[in-house]
Amino acid sequence: MKIAVLAGDGIGPEVTAQALRVLEALALPDLVLFEGDVGAAAYRRHGHPLPPETLAMARAADAILFGAVGDFSCDDLPRHLRPEQAILGLRAELGLFANLRPAAGFPGLEHLSSLKPEVARSIDLLVVRELNGDVYFGDKGERESAGGREGWDSMSYNEAEVRRIAEVAFRAAMGRGKRLCSVDKANVLETSRIWRETIIEVAKDYPEVELEHMYVDNAAMQMVKEPGRFDTIVTGNLFGDILSDQASACVGSIGLLASASLGERQTEHGTFGLYEPIHGSAPDIAGQGKANPVAAVLSLAMLLRHSLGLEQQAGWIERAVEGILDDGVFGGDLGGSASTGDIGDAILSKLQTMS
Ligand code: NAI
Ligand code: MG
Repeated sequence: MKIAVLAGDGIGPEVTAQALRVLEALALPDLVLFEGDVGAAAYRRHGHPLPPETLAMARAADAILFGAVGDFSCDDLPRHLRPEQAILGLRAELGLFANLRPAAGFPGLEHLSSLKPEVARSIDLLVVRELNGDVYFGDKGERESAGGREGWDSMSYNEAEVRRIAEVAFRAAMGRGKRLCSVDKANVLETSRIWRETIIEVAKDYPEVELEHMYVDNAAMQMVKEPGRFDTIVTGNLFGDILSDQASACVGSIGLLASASLGERQTEHGTFGLYEPIHGSAPDIAGQGKANPVAAVLSLAMLLRHSLGLEQQAGWIERAVEGILDDGVFGGDLGGSASTGDIGDAILSKLQTMS
C-alpha cells in the first residue's frame, strides 16, 4: 500500500503531520509513504507548483494525502505558476472527477454553528460535486466589446460526464439515507437541462433511491433554513464548490471537515483517490500551532476507507475525533486553547482505547 504525502504550504504541513502521527499509531503492515513537493514550496525549489516528479509519485500511489496549497508570496505569478494550480492539475491529470464532502453536526458543537443549535444538530449530508468539468474547464478568455474589455467563460456538461458522477452519487445515496437531491439551474441553463435528463435516466437503475431536483438558488436557501432535509446532494463543479463550503460552515468550523476526490481507477484495496481538508493554507495562522488538524485527520480516515479498504480503522479515527470534541478539546477556531499538537495528542490517546 503506497501513500503519496503532499503537505504543501501554510498550515498544510502542520495538520498533515498530525494525520501522519495517527497513521503511524495504527501500525499498518506493508505501508510505504512517499513525500513530494507541491505548491509554493515546489515552485521555489523546482520552478513549478506541480513538478513532474510529484505528479509521477502521485500516479504511482494508491492514495494521496494532501494538505493545502497557497502562499501570498506567489500572488504576482502568472496563473499557471500559482500554487493553487497544483491541486487543479492533480484533479485533472489524475481523472479525479468525484468530490465527496460529508458535513455532519458533531455532538457538543451545535452552539458554535451560526445556525440555531437544533438546526445545526440535524445536519448529516454528503455533497457529491463533479470536479473535472463545468465552467472551470470550459473555453474562456478576454475580448473587446462595445462596453470595453469583456471576460467570458463557457459552461458545458455532456451525458457521459453527468452519468459517471450520477453513478457515484446514487451508489453513495444507497449507502446512506437513500435520498438524492440533484441541484441544477434547469429553468435557465442548457447545461442543466442535459444534466437533469441524464440524472433521470440513471435513476432508473436505482429504484430504491428517492430522487428530487432542486434549483441551486433554492438549494442555497434550504441549506441554511432546513439542512436536515438533505441526505445526498449531487451537483456540478461550480454549484458544488459553493454549496459544499456553505454546508461546512453550517457545521461549525472549516477546520473540521474532510474530503475525498475519487476517479474511476481501482487499486488492489479500493478506489484511487486524493484526500484533503476542505480548508486552504490559512497563511494568517500558519506556523503558530493554531491550526485545527481534525479535518486532516478525518481526511486520513476517508483515505483508509475508500482507497485502502480499512473500514475498521477509519471508524476508530472518526470515533476518536468525536470523543475529543465531546471532551471539549478545542483549538482557537472553536473558542478553545488547545494547540495543533495538543489536539493530535488527544486523538492519539483516544485511539489507544480502541485498537
Ligand atoms: P483558508 O481555508 O485557508 O482560511 C480561511 C479562514 O479559516 C482563515 O481565517 C483561517 O485561519 C481559517 N482556517 C482554515 N483552516 C483552519 C484550520 N484547520 N484551523 C483553524 N482555522 C482554520 O482560506 P483562504 O484564507 O481563503 O485562502 C488561503 C490560501 O489557501 C489561498 O492561497 C487559497 O487560494 C488557498 N486555498 C487552497 C485550497 C486547497 O489547497 N485545496 C482550498 C482553499 C483555499
Ligand atoms: Mg471552495
